Amino acid sequence: MEPLILVIFGASGDLAERKLLPAVLELQKGGFLPENFAVLGVSRSKFSDEAFREKIFFESDFIKSNGMSEEAKQTFSEKLYYLAIDTSNEEDYGKVKEKLIELNTKHQTNHNFLFYLSTPPNLYSTIPAALAAHGLNKETEGWRRLVIEKPFGHDEASAKALNQDLLKYFDEERIYRIDHYLGKETVQNLLVTRFANGIFEPLWNRNYVERVEITAAESVGVKGRAGYYDQSGALKDMVQNHLLQILAHVAMEAPNTADANAIRGEKQKLFQAIRAIKKEEVAKYVIRGQYIASDMDGRIEEGYRDHEDIPSNSKTETYVALKLFIDNWRWAGVPFFIRTGKQMPTKVTEVVVTFKSPPYPLFKREYEFDDLNNQLIMRIQPDEGIALQFGMKVPGAGFKVKNVDMEFHYSELVDAYMPEAYERLLLDCMRGDATLYTHGESVEAAWRFVDPIIQAWQEDNAIPVYGYPAGTWGPNVADDLVDGENETWHNPYKSLTINDNYCVL
Ligand code: BG6
Repeated sequence: MEPLILVIFGASGDLAERKLLPAVLELQKGGFLPENFAVLGVSRSKFSDEAFREKIFFESDFIKSNGMSEEAKQTFSEKLYYLAIDTSNEEDYGKVKEKLIELNTKHQTNHNFLFYLSTPPNLYSTIPAALAAHGLNKETEGWRRLVIEKPFGHDEASAKALNQDLLKYFDEERIYRIDHYLGKETVQNLLVTRFANGIFEPLWNRNYVERVEITAAESVGVKGRAGYYDQSGALKDMVQNHLLQILAHVAMEAPNTADANAIRGEKQKLFQAIRAIKKEEVAKYVIRGQYIASDMDGRIEEGYRDHEDIPSNSKTETYVALKLFIDNWRWAGVPFFIRTGKQMPTKVTEVVVTFKSPPYPLFKREYEFDDLNNQLIMRIQPDEGIALQFGMKVPGAGFKVKNVDMEFHYSELVDAYMPEAYERLLLDCMRGDATLYTHGESVEAAWRFVDPIIQAWQEDNAIPVYGYPAGTWGPNVADDLVDGENETWHNPYKSLTINDNYCVL
């Protein structure tokens, strides 16, 4: 790989400590980084290089366990630098330039600079403009790339404005909008499952698929992030980005080649085909919920509004479930269900494709509740893998059928190293591969889909916020979205409380 300097804006922040710096160290440990490499952390907080190194290697709980030898740590720490500036003051970027010139000479990094914006979003336009004011965006010598964290805008208009701002200084090929779900091995595997096998794709359409569910459940609440979360909510926090990206991987057409332009082009077409949910349809197609206090076998979990920093009348959704349609030849009429929530029974992200049932039930089921439909479950996390559920004869007299799973777990690939999402994405960007980064137009299209839902919630007080006890699979009414006889969401784990009552908040 080419030499480079990774410049992390917001280096003293939470994301840098929890995700970015550990990813850099893992890449170093795995031998993926070039010899000529340096990291420059830039933030407002005052640290010396030594204090920054100390913080990374000895104070951070996220990094201590990295398992690098003391010698390797020592050698690597000499490539870590820190610069304190006022990030909102353009003049201060002169200091960034000076430091980069110095480090470039010292580490022979060919003027290749990767700027990673891990800062509050209000700096996403400011930093590129300030870099440009000092000529740091120009590729006269070496390359210049820009990585932007989420949230990318807070609605379509602000995402558009941000895209326009960035495009003044960096062209699209050099802007890497990160969505860490795309760095997950299993999300990428959705494409491989579909397009590297002959057996799935012929069935992957309206003729054979009954419905598709995407669930991203989290067992944690919002502790520690209340301020951010209350302004955001589940729809903006998870659906607009991660889950619509997963949807695109599940539903897009096959690209001509496996390169960034082809894949991102197909995803863009898919986004164009998602049928908008109009404001007046929101109550019908979207359910919002908020967790309330519950007693999980003696363990009392507090409700969302009970947290310090959350207003006692907050209507922010910690759960959202929605039904959408994709208006194209392949998917016409097939419902797609998406749901995500905090304080659910377990942490799990999975895609469940339910196929149509056989035309005629020839055999008796062992259990009445056994579904007649085959299901393909693609587990994104944890226990990553794939399961295909199908009916098998119960041994013995007669023809009774029961459902069994044919399973593959990634953990069975003993030699395979599963890189953490940030490792994979950072490495791709260092190599100049944007396949797993989102294109500006896709981000705008995703906002275009969620904007009317948010507006309807803001404007129409009659749309309920349903309370669901912490530790359950969300409000019961969400089951009504999944219509059809005896059909309901595929819940991979039992509720943690028997109190599954719900209420309207
Ligand atoms: C983040 C959201 O983007 O993704 C968080 O802001 C959420 O609220 C997180 O917890 C989930 O990511 P993962 O990789 O833990 O599933």
